[in-house]
Amino acid sequence: MSHEHTEYSAPVPDLSAAQLAEPGAVTIVVPTFNESANIRQLLHRITESVPSRLPCEVVFVDDSTDDTPEVIRDAARDCPFPVTVLHREEPVGGLGGAVVEGMRTAGSDWIVVMDGDCQHPPSLVPELVATGERSNAALVVASRYIKGGSRAGLAGSYRVAVSRGATWLTKSLFPRKLHGISDPMSGFFAIRRSAVTADVLKPLGYKILLELAVRSRPRAVGEVPFVFEERFAGESKSSAREGFRFLRHLVGLRTASPVARMVGFGLIGATGFLPNLLGLWALTAAGVHYVPAEILANQFGVAWNFVLIEHLLFRDRRAHRRWWDRAGRFALLANADLVLRIPLIALFVHRFGMGALSATALALVTTFVVRFAGTEALVYLPRRRPRGSRTARRAV
Ligand code: GDD
Ligand code: MN
Repeated sequence: MSHEHTEYSAPVPDLSAAQLAEPGAVTIVVPTFNESANIRQLLHRITESVPSRLPCEVVFVDDSTDDTPEVIRDAARDCPFPVTVLHREEPVGGLGGAVVEGMRTAGSDWIVVMDGDCQHPPSLVPELVATGERSNAALVVASRYIKGGSRAGLAGSYRVAVSRGATWLTKSLFPRKLHGISDPMSGFFAIRRSAVTADVLKPLGYKILLELAVRSRPRAVGEVPFVFEERFAGESKSSAREGFRFLRHLVGLRTASPVARMVGFGLIGATGFLPNLLGLWALTAAGVHYVPAEILANQFGVAWNFVLIEHLLFRDRRAHRRWWDRAGRFALLANADLVLRIPLIALFVHRFGMGALSATALALVTTFVVRFAGTEALVYLPRRRPRGSRTARRAV
C-alpha cells in the first residue's frame, strides 16, 4: 500500500498472513482523531466478529495529535488481519477527507466505513456486505431510523434534535438522490469500491455518506438497521464549527449545477438588501446627502454578497485569483449592474416599445443573468495561462 503525502503507511507485519485484500473481501476504513483509548477495544471487536465470516483488512486514517498511531501499530500485532495506519500531517477535508484517502488505498471489492469509538458495532460489517451482495446494491447504509435501529448512544436531547433537523433538511434538499436512504447522516456504511468515484468527491467534514450518495450516485441502495451505541471512551469530536462546516457542505452539494448556483446567487443577492438599507439609514441619519449615501450603502450590500458568495458558492474556486482581485472584479460587476440598468430600460422602452414595468423587469433579469455569468467567468474561472504555471497546478 503506497501513499505519498502521509507520514508513514507501512502495513504492520501480518502474523497470520491470512487474507490480504482480495476480491470479495472488505476493507474497513476507520477515521481517527485522538482515539487512543478506543483502538484496542475496536480491533478486539472486529477480530471477534469479522474475519471468521469475511476476509478483512483495516485502514485507519488518522489526523490525531495524540499517540493514536503508535497505539494502533502496537495493537495491530495481535490482529489476525492486516492493519494499516495512514497519518496525515494536514487534515484536509476533516473526517470525510480522511475516509476518501482510506478508500483510495483499498483493493477489495467492498469498503466499510465506521467510526473508531465503538459506536458502530463491527458485528454488522459482514451483514452490510452480504446485504449488498444479495440485493446487488452498490451502497448499504447502517440506519438508525428503520425498524430495529435506534440512536441509543446519541448523547442528550439537544443532539437528538439537531440530528433530526439535519436529517430532515438534508432529505428535503435531495429528495431524489437520497431516495431509499433513511439515515443519510450515518457514518456507518458499506460501498462497492467500483461505485466510489473518488475524483469527483469534495469531502468536507463529517457527512461523507451524504457526499458519496449525492456525488457518486451509487445505482442501487440497501439499508440495514443498527443500534448507535454509547462511545466506549473519550468524547465526540463534533462541535459547532463542525455544524457550520456541514451547512457549507450542504450548500456546496446543492449548488453543484449552474442552474442551482444561479438560484443561490439570486437568494444571496436578495439578502444584500438588508445591509444596503441599514447602511442607507445610518448614513442619511448621520447627515450624508442621499445620493452619495445610496452609492456608499450599495457597497455594503456588495461587500455582504461578496463574503457570502465566496464562502458558500465559490469556496473551492477561489485559488485562481487573490482575494482583492476577486473583490475588485465582483464590486465592478455589481456596480456596473446599477449603472447599466437605466440605459437598458431606456433601450427597451424606446427601441422595442415596451412598457416601463415590463422593461424594468426585463432589465432586472438581464442584468442579473449577466452579473451571474460575469461573476462565474471573470471572478472565479481559472484564467488561461501557459501550462505548468501555478494556476494550472492549483486547478486540479
Ligand atoms: N481522521 C479524522 N479526522 N477522523 C476524525 C476527525 C478528523 O478530523 N474528526 C472526527 N474523526 C473520527 C473520530 O475519531 C471518530 O472515530 C469518528 O471520526 C467519528 O467522530 P465522533 O466525534 O465520534 O463523531 P460523532 O459520534 O459525534 O458522530 C458520528 O455519528 C453521527 C451520527 O449521529 C459520526 O459517524 C457522524 O458522521 C454521524 O453523522
Ligand atoms: Mn462517535
